[in-house]
Amino acid sequence: MNVFGQTADSHEQIVFCADPDSGLRAIIAIYSTALGPALGGTRFYPFADEAAALADVLNLSRAMAYKAACAGLDLGGGKAVIIGDPKRDKNEALLRAYGRFVQSLGGRYYTACDVGTDVRDMDVIARESRFVTGRTLAYGGAGDSAVLTAFGVLQGMRAAAEHVWGAPELRGRRVGISGVGKVGKRLAGLLLAEQASVVVADPDAAALDAVRAQHPEAETATVDELPGLALDVFAPCALGGVLTDQLVQALQAQVVCGAANNQLAHAGIDKLLQDRGILYAPDYVVNAGGLIQVADEIGGFSEPRARARATQIFDTTRRVLALADEEGMPPGQAADKHADQRMREVGRLRSVWLPR
Ligand code: NAI
Repeated sequence: MNVFGQTADSHEQIVFCADPDSGLRAIIAIYSTALGPALGGTRFYPFADEAAALADVLNLSRAMAYKAACAGLDLGGGKAVIIGDPKRDKNEALLRAYGRFVQSLGGRYYTACDVGTDVRDMDVIARESRFVTGRTLAYGGAGDSAVLTAFGVLQGMRAAAEHVWGAPELRGRRVGISGVGKVGKRLAGLLLAEQASVVVADPDAAALDAVRAQHPEAETATVDELPGLALDVFAPCALGGVLTDQLVQALQAQVVCGAANNQLAHAGIDKLLQDRGILYAPDYVVNAGGLIQVADEIGGFSEPRARARATQIFDTTRRVLALADEEGMPPGQAADKHADQRMREVGRLRSVWLPR
């Protein structure tokens, strides 16, 4: 057994939670609390085995710490997984048992929605814990986080456009959106309002129909043909790992900027994109709008305040792209460096003793 070896990434704390009567098997991972309590959603998923669940929660919690640090939030990074099929295994007792474990961490970890959990589940968990955000409107929640996520991606795309074409204008640019679910569909609407042209792809015909119904001017393509089209921007808004060696070779766009988490299939893709002259706007920098929204909810949600903060994704993306140029490194690496620096410099202030 080599449990600590798995956490070579230096996670602060990993909590295994079990409640056999309700069937709860969950893992909460806290990567860092250097900047504040760790915030990250709860993923309810039928993982193939415990090792897969552990690997996922370790990766996801680390990514949350970097996302929060880059977004300038006073939050650390954490994430949780519940092992099981949400359609079959989710019930009140299990969610409340999970809520008690979240509460037991005393605020070191705040939970929210992720794959397999929704705002109503957060209300159930909140019956056992104060450390829950991303709740229903009835309980002071902020609603669908896709709204500010799409808005933030647009800000990141404007900064990338400025970097490549000299002006933060998307008018007349052709943007291919791969995945038009909650975020991709909204992004299509925002881009069309900016007078960009939009090509959308999604394996789900209903998702495409929904875009066509709202925006008849949007073109459609298959998921496979989209990257090879003559696009200015490729916007991955579906699954992680989409930027593979093959896809990058096929890409015609000059910019990659989209909402999907963990877009790079492996770390070397960042450099491959750079070598091909394609500007990559790092995923966790541009997709922080949803995190900004749920973070704002903790203190009582203000839409104008959260939107103002999501607008700053333009400046953050700009800063990261400039840092990449200065240091001669790919943008993904520059984003990590920017986040690491903030965690170190601001996190260090905790060592300054203050009277209570
Ligand atoms: P969603 O589940 O509403 O939409 C995903 C869409 O992608 C669906 O329409 C699905 O049919 C489509 N899709 C599935 N496989 C595909 C493929 N191979 N190629 C193209 N499209 C495919 O998810 P949502 O909320 O729109 O999120 C999209 C991405 O953005 C995810 O990676 C998510 O983690 C990330 N994200 C979402 C945030 C949010 O607030 N919703 C916040 C930050 C990141």
